[in-house]
Amino acid sequence: MLAQVYQQILRPGLFQLEPEVAHGLAIAVCTQISRRASWQKLVSQVCQYQHPALSQNLWGLEFPNPLGLAAGFDKGAIAPFAWQSLGFGFGEVGSITAHAQPGNPPPRLFRLPRDRALLNHLGFNNPGAAAVAEALSRLDLAQNLTIPLGINLGKSKITPLAQAAEDYCHSFQLLAPFAGYFVINVSSPNTPGLRDLQAIAHLEQILTQIQALNSTQIPILVKVAPDLDDQDLQAIALLAMGLNISGIIATNTTISRQNLIDQTYAQAPGGISGQPLAARSTEVIRVIWQASQGQLPIIGVGGICSPEDAWQKITAGASLLQIYTGWVYEGPFVIKQILQGLVKKLEQQGLNHIQAAIGLDQIKR
Ligand code: FNR
Repeated sequence: MLAQVYQQILRPGLFQLEPEVAHGLAIAVCTQISRRASWQKLVSQVCQYQHPALSQNLWGLEFPNPLGLAAGFDKGAIAPFAWQSLGFGFGEVGSITAHAQPGNPPPRLFRLPRDRALLNHLGFNNPGAAAVAEALSRLDLAQNLTIPLGINLGKSKITPLAQAAEDYCHSFQLLAPFAGYFVINVSSPNTPGLRDLQAIAHLEQILTQIQALNSTQIPILVKVAPDLDDQDLQAIALLAMGLNISGIIATNTTISRQNLIDQTYAQAPGGISGQPLAARSTEVIRVIWQASQGQLPIIGVGGICSPEDAWQKITAGASLLQIYTGWVYEGPFVIKQILQGLVKKLEQQGLNHIQAAIGLDQIKR
């Protein structure tokens, strides 16, 4: 019923607005939720769903459910308490860069409704690590945030690729006091050369330098592109295990335009998210799960809109999931629907906990 209110009344209104304006409005509402305990309570009552079969402890962090907010929605970490009220099991903020930057010139965010997709060419518009650290220091995260907070780091556009490691390290040091886990994002298509950092030599240097600073052993994850070939993905999985990396996020947006019905933006720069990405991101999960023999936890993201999509990624090997585009199209109640659907799937399969479903599809093969 509430899902229909969003889809039939709110979404048509929001979709009349320019995508970035609609996003700004959504963030403004979420910021208000995040700032007011009374609003948090109200939203929690409507949106949250708790079930013991869905909670997990991973990397020493308590995840009340496996579905988190993907990076890119809250780039400045301004609404962390809203993410828990809205029912997410964890929230990832960023990407945050060492230097504040405006991102690419607009228009840089487009809807492809027929594909249930978005195209973004934002380019890490964010206030910079120091400003985010300052804002987070004013919040009582330890007291009031009950879900893990992931902090996703990107490389500043002005920093040459050769100095990428220093750029990530600078942000890491400023933001370490606030992070449940960190993500090293080397897979956005919207910063020139960034994806080259997925090459083993570059990545090894960045991860080694980050780990050298990581005295408190904050979990570090690497976010990969769906456009890498399987061999490169396998090499990254092995490198990650060798360097004590805690997990892989699979995947970022794709530069492929292959699966699109709407070809309006076929030649436009940027990354596609949503349904056209779903199958490849699930395949990437499989490749990494196999390469690591199920030893490297994976956060699966790309085109999740329904319990079925979520189940496919879990059974392909994802321990946790994230959503962005599906949330925009289906609305805030989709979180609860997906979580309820996952519990139903577990029951149908005779499983009593989500952990028993991770990689199930691979084990059966
Ligand atoms: C993103 N994504 C993203 N990822 C990241 O690591 N850092 C970022 O700053 C952003 N920014 C961003 C902006 C917008 C508008 C979108 C739609 C996406 C990628 C996102 O986290 C996710 O990996 C993909 O969008 C795939 O998931 P969905 O959207 O298909 O659920």
